[in-house]
Amino acid sequence: MQNLFSVRQWQRDDLYRLFDRAGAFARGSVPQLGGMAAFVFSEPSTRTLVSFQMAAVRLGMNVCALDGDNSSLCKGESLEDTLTTLEAIGVNAVVIRTGFDWPGSLRRSFTSMALVNAGSGIWEHPTQALLDAFTLYQEFGTLTGLKIVIAGDLFHSRVARSNALLLHTAGAKVVLSGPPQWQAADLAPWADWMPWEQAREEADAIMMLRVQNERHKEAMAMSESAYLSSYGLTAAAFAGCPQHTIIMHPGPVNWGIELDPALADHPRCRIMKQVRSGVLVRMALLEECSVESRREQLVSA
Ligand code: CP
Repeated sequence: MQNLFSVRQWQRDDLYRLFDRAGAFARGSVPQLGGMAAFVFSEPSTRTLVSFQMAAVRLGMNVCALDGDNSSLCKGESLEDTLTTLEAIGVNAVVIRTGFDWPGSLRRSFTSMALVNAGSGIWEHPTQALLDAFTLYQEFGTLTGLKIVIAGDLFHSRVARSNALLLHTAGAKVVLSGPPQWQAADLAPWADWMPWEQAREEADAIMMLRVQNERHKEAMAMSESAYLSSYGLTAAAFAGCPQHTIIMHPGPVNWGIELDPALADHPRCRIMKQVRSGVLVRMALLEECSVESRREQLVSA
């Protein structure tokens, strides 16, 4: 795979191949690829940007970061022209975060450069879903048959969209829950919606979503504490879950809104594990995409 646009590109076998490579990196066997990875982020990021940069550095790649303020994007250059320019300079991989869904003009293959989607508006966050799947695989040894609950601000969540499809493809049962006004009807083919208390029953993992205030047209109608008690994961609600249920969250967390601060240090909270998985999974992905783009370059030379 030279480019990662969407989780729709992934089948179950691809996923387990990526897990194998991420596992090998965890054991310390890391090839030195060289070359350069560029990062074009037009929305804020901490985890995705820095873990991708860490992944590239560990693979022996140089990194450079561009954004709307420090590149010719701010002079009106299109993203497509920026990418063509980066390829001509000799960049090997470009990791992109946009506020919009990728149009067809961005979902194209360059001759010698890989493209990776690091989050596109409310639509896709494929590498978050891959690292979440890897975290679940490390925990349970399989994804098949797991009951994974994704709860909260579903409508505005690219994490929910990518995870629902990827986990469904991997054979997990995906259950959605949250405030009715934030349901995401487009996820119905891959997941069932349930009221919050019912959703938590027999859950193997509960993935809470951030309330994305910056994407809302109107302020949230209820107070933060009312949201926590009605739709958030409180320590009391978690105590009623099975003894093996793990807590996940893609971050950043609004503590006291979707998650009770009392759960931050819970022994079954896996949020920092997800962050660590992110570096390994992004290494595996950058390796796969960069090697494939170099192969394409040799074929076309
Ligand atoms: N989970 C996630 O995408 O976090 P960042 O916005 O910090 O990259």
